[in-house]
Amino acid sequence: MANIDITLNVNGKDHRVAVRSTEMLLEVLRDRLGYVGTNKVCAQGICGACTVIVDGKSTTSCLALAAQFDGARIITVEGLEHDGKLDPLQEAFMKHGAVQCGYCTPGFLMSARAFLNDNPHPTRTEIIDALRGNICRCTGYKKIIDAVEDVAARSAR
Ligand code: FES
Ligand code: FES
Repeated sequence: MANIDITLNVNGKDHRVAVRSTEMLLEVLRDRLGYVGTNKVCAQGICGACTVIVDGKSTTSCLALAAQFDGARIITVEGLEHDGKLDPLQEAFMKHGAVQCGYCTPGFLMSARAFLNDNPHPTRTEIIDALRGNICRCTGYKKIIDAVEDVAARSAR
């Protein structure tokens, strides 16, 4: 089967890559381009650990065929930090103890970042709804929701 040449812009950097028609975006990001912060857990679209932001929308990369994303702008968890400064969400996750094993954390951060970009001043209920696609087996969710709410509250001031 012939490969398909695509260009992915990941965290501001263009990557030209030849992908198989069956290759998932998650595999390309992790295994071909080295963005290993995007986690593979269920690989079935259930847990959200593989979430990245594609053209502004949170996307479950384990279910997304890479060949469909030629020209897309992708942000992975590695792209949240700028000039050595963490994203406020990363700071808040640390402050609130919202990270334990960390498997789910990149996915939560990317879902929350895409959500807050669209809706900077959400209610707690809206935050809970926005993160329904992400599973955490460690923290019990409260600390994660608290962290996102903290960032939303600070941006409202
Ligand atoms: S690894 Fe993609 S949703 Fe679980
Ligand atoms: S911190 Fe362990 S799964 Fe969420």
